[in-house]
Amino acid sequence: MKLIGPFSQILPLVGLPDKGPLSDTDLNAIYDGGIIIDNGRIVSVGAFNELKKGFAGDVEEVEGVSVLIPGFVDTHTHICFAGSRAGDYAKRVAGKSYLEIAKEGGGILDTVKKTRAASEEDLFVHTMAVCDQLLALGVTTCEVKSGYGLTVDEELKMLRVIKMVNEEHSVDIVASCLAAHIIPPEYSDAKSYLSDVENNLLPVVKDESLASRVDIFVEEGAFSVEEARSYLLTAKNLGFSFVIHADQFTSGGSALACEVGAKSADHLEVITDEDIKKLAESDVVATVLPGASLGLGIGFAPARKLLDAGCSVVVASDYNPGSAPMGNLLMQAAVMGAQQKLSTAETLAAITCRAAKALDLPNRGELREGNIADFISFPCADYQQIFYYQGQMLPNRVWKKGEVVWYEGI
Ligand code: NIG
Ligand code: FE
Repeated sequence: MKLIGPFSQILPLVGLPDKGPLSDTDLNAIYDGGIIIDNGRIVSVGAFNELKKGFAGDVEEVEGVSVLIPGFVDTHTHICFAGSRAGDYAKRVAGKSYLEIAKEGGGILDTVKKTRAASEEDLFVHTMAVCDQLLALGVTTCEVKSGYGLTVDEELKMLRVIKMVNEEHSVDIVASCLAAHIIPPEYSDAKSYLSDVENNLLPVVKDESLASRVDIFVEEGAFSVEEARSYLLTAKNLGFSFVIHADQFTSGGSALACEVGAKSADHLEVITDEDIKKLAESDVVATVLPGASLGLGIGFAPARKLLDAGCSVVVASDYNPGSAPMGNLLMQAAVMGAQQKLSTAETLAAITCRAAKALDLPNRGELREGNIADFISFPCADYQQIFYYQGQMLPNRVWKKGEVVWYEGI
């Protein structure tokens, strides 16, 4: 049993509503706070001096000012890949669109070629290194998609690597099977590819417990609403939960997400007002991906409107080599918050408690008794400074399951 503190402020993020607007008074900061942990779990959070009275365990005194918050949960990444797409980026900044580059054989297919050519070991080393980077940015749980293999064997290769990284790295990983990213060149149409995935890939993914979630890119040049509907219903029958890459360039995906009961609809840059209403009335989480807007040079998803309509809004990095190569969730959330006029509570909840719920992980994202002891501290006296620096101020300590796994100057 260990008591850590005092922290200038602790933001427990406990008991916030899952959906709709939040104001900063909802944050209920604890001043001069302390946290008791035992066996990787949180035992108690409160005023340090109160917790210290009669405490029989170790006391770890914290020097200087610091603010403690839950570790960040990044619910949407594609960090298992090989190669770089700096060439795509240069073309895009010079005026070509993401879809035009994809049609010329660049885009996702370029990463598919490089990922297929990479060994499991190469992919493992790369993904482990990205996880180190994420940890230093305060991300203690992260979702990772396959989707650059696009054959049964190559998708299995990616998912096995993701599983190994989860076993080896202190960042906890939730894997999603994104075999339905685009139609690979070996297949002439979506139907034949998706039926191969349904018959020969998803059952193995299930048997080997490689992923419990399935994702599909519903978009021009990827999969239509009809193709996705049938695929997702098959996945549902096999026992998978699912999410959709929806409404990035053309709409349709988020309405389907509501119709078939997806866990989240991710992207939403071009969502219509009508579909915002549908999302708000459903249990589908609205996941916005500012990193893709920054990487593509397009507008942000309407996070303010989504919250005001009553949606659960989550912010994720979409870290990938094509549209979102930056991967800094804190910076992206801060910048989007400024642009979309989000309260600090809304932005913070979107990368902690609401994000954890989007991944069906009720035991993190909030600092409360029984939760996993995943938390991060920032070198400041007031939580408002965290987003104020727009990602420039990084955590000075990161705890995972109660252990310090990263600290400033490591
Ligand atoms: O979320 N939109 C589709 N998939 C990714 C991009 C992947 C890539 O370009 O490599 C995304 O933006
Ligand atoms: Fe994505």
